[in-house]
Amino acid sequence: MQKHSFGAKVFQFESIDSTNSFAKSLEESDAPHGTIIIAEEQTAGHGRMGRRWHSSAGENLLFTVILRPDVAADRLLLLPLAAAVGIAEGIEQMTGVSLETKWPNDLLYDRKKICGILIEGSIDSTGATAIALGAGININQTFFPPEIEASAGSLSLITGHQWSKQELLDTILLCLEEKYNDLCTSFAPSILAAWKKRTTMLGKNVTIIEHKCAYDATAVDLDHLGALIVRRPDGTLHTVYAGDVSVHPLE
Ligand code: BTN
Repeated sequence: MQKHSFGAKVFQFESIDSTNSFAKSLEESDAPHGTIIIAEEQTAGHGRMGRRWHSSAGENLLFTVILRPDVAADRLLLLPLAAAVGIAEGIEQMTGVSLETKWPNDLLYDRKKICGILIEGSIDSTGATAIALGAGININQTFFPPEIEASAGSLSLITGHQWSKQELLDTILLCLEEKYNDLCTSFAPSILAAWKKRTTMLGKNVTIIEHKCAYDATAVDLDHLGALIVRRPDGTLHTVYAGDVSVHPLE
């Protein structure tokens, strides 16, 4: 029988500054691969590009997995996409809700964000040392603060049900670990295909924020490393390795 490492060791908090920050402080320790940090509330939850992550206490899933990969760093370039696919598959198995992927690693439903993923860590030339893979998944929250009301959703708002966070977490961790193992044993093409199957952004007009500059383009495709290929208004193709994308509403 397959032995699972995700969740073999768990740190659980009622309230913490950030599960990712706690994971990073643990990375120096001997916390094993697959250690999970989970909290009911974060006082300084953060997201990509320095943003805050809002989540009402007790209503959602907030967790970080510590990864200690034993493969070369280039195997992990698709980790953000693999994480999004793994979490989406876990959610779909439990709830039947099919979430959309948005580059690089958001999960949306009806243009509203249900899950954000933040991957932090250092990868050196000999391979990765430790990675904190954090996810905030909106489960049972039905009211959001005005600043994110238009852009945030939850599984409860989609389905009209309250969901068991523990059952969702257990299923999500299994799917996440499976995708992580696929990545390490080089099933990268299947991860790219699974990510693309869930997205509707390719072919759409988008605004890219890259190196603090914003510009309009059309999303064309992903390359084999998971970078986003866009077409600029002058017709030239450009590859975005790190940045943020907003998809224009239908004009
Ligand atoms: C994003 O969409 O920008 C990513 C958001 C990631 C939020 C999660 S919540 C658990 C973990 N701890 C954090 O401080 N951030 C991540």
